[in-house]
Amino acid sequence: MRPPCGSLFPLIILKKTRRFHLFVPANSSETVKDLLKRHAITHEVLLANPNELIEMQTRNDSTDPRSSSTFYERYHSLEDVCFKYQILATQRLNRDNPDTVKVILIGSSFEKRPLYVLKLSVNNRPNKKAMWIDCGIHAREWISPAFCLWFVQYSLSFYQSNKDITHILDNMDVYILPVLNPDGYHYTWTTNRMWRKNRSTNMSTKCVGVDLNRNFDANWCTEGASDHPCSEIYCGAFPESEPETQAVADFLRSHKDIVQIYFSIHSYSQMLLFPYSCTLEEAENHSELLEMVKEAAQKIQRHYRNIYKYGSGANTIYLAPGGSDDWAYKLGIKYSFTFELQDRGRYGFLLPPSDISKACNEALLAVKTIALKVDAKT
Ligand code: ARG
Ligand code: ZN
Repeated sequence: MRPPCGSLFPLIILKKTRRFHLFVPANSSETVKDLLKRHAITHEVLLANPNELIEMQTRNDSTDPRSSSTFYERYHSLEDVCFKYQILATQRLNRDNPDTVKVILIGSSFEKRPLYVLKLSVNNRPNKKAMWIDCGIHAREWISPAFCLWFVQYSLSFYQSNKDITHILDNMDVYILPVLNPDGYHYTWTTNRMWRKNRSTNMSTKCVGVDLNRNFDANWCTEGASDHPCSEIYCGAFPESEPETQAVADFLRSHKDIVQIYFSIHSYSQMLLFPYSCTLEEAENHSELLEMVKEAAQKIQRHYRNIYKYGSGANTIYLAPGGSDDWAYKLGIKYSFTFELQDRGRYGFLLPPSDISKACNEALLAVKTIALKVDAKT
């Protein structure tokens, strides 16, 4: 999801028909309301007390007797997430598959936190293809890392009982990066829940962070990104200037012959997107990709009664160059997607834990639908 407007003047470019979400510091809310009124812009306060929500979501108290939710239906600090995937790595599906889950170190973040990928692999068939899923590229989109863990847990629990996930895992390995931006994620837990970028610093500015989804080499820093270090969509000093971007790009470059499908998980706004976001031009297999996301969105609507928009990024939301999905596509991964999970703006980034299971199951259905379609083609 695009960063909310940080200053007031973007209001003058609002289209009459478009809804916009503003995050406003509590002490300026009256001024903003006055301004909106003066310009005859209708508005509604969606969340009057976000701090209460934030407090509830970080309390994360598994010993609370009123909380019946499991590990996967709560949000977790970076330490808990890391601890969890070390445990997951010791799990196996059966005695024939001693190495179902492997942890691979692919690099480290600006603040020197490890970047771990989990590899799910149930057999060693020759010429096996693979699927990649990354989560948490934007720090405040907490449902995203929750989804990656959900996916791993689901795969381990339902392999051999759910026919779709069994078919997928029998035919492809899955690489999962649960937290692409660990420094940013940690910062949202400790300091600023609404942080989006990574936490890299630079001598030439006092502003911190690069938008990692503007830092890939795909029409880098053109319209839809900013070269201003204080911007929420700052593209960085050059493509792949950030260690997180570079680690992902290096890994995918060295696995590009086996990785067939790329997924990047974001929130919010409920959309299933594919390239391009960096240009309004159509991708070479546009209609094939459209068909896939359309089927996934229809299944979500049928099973979960929830609406997801779908289409190419630039035509469905806005131009956003330097994104990982476009870069992966240009690398040769022809099935490349960005999902924006729940919700459509009621809670936004502060999606309550009670909504995690439905949000993840919807996204899981979309991943499975697309993976099966790709597998049937190749
Ligand atoms: N909300 C995402 C962002 O602003 C959109 C991602 C779509 N893909 C892209 N390559 N920009 O980063
Ligand atoms: Zn995002």
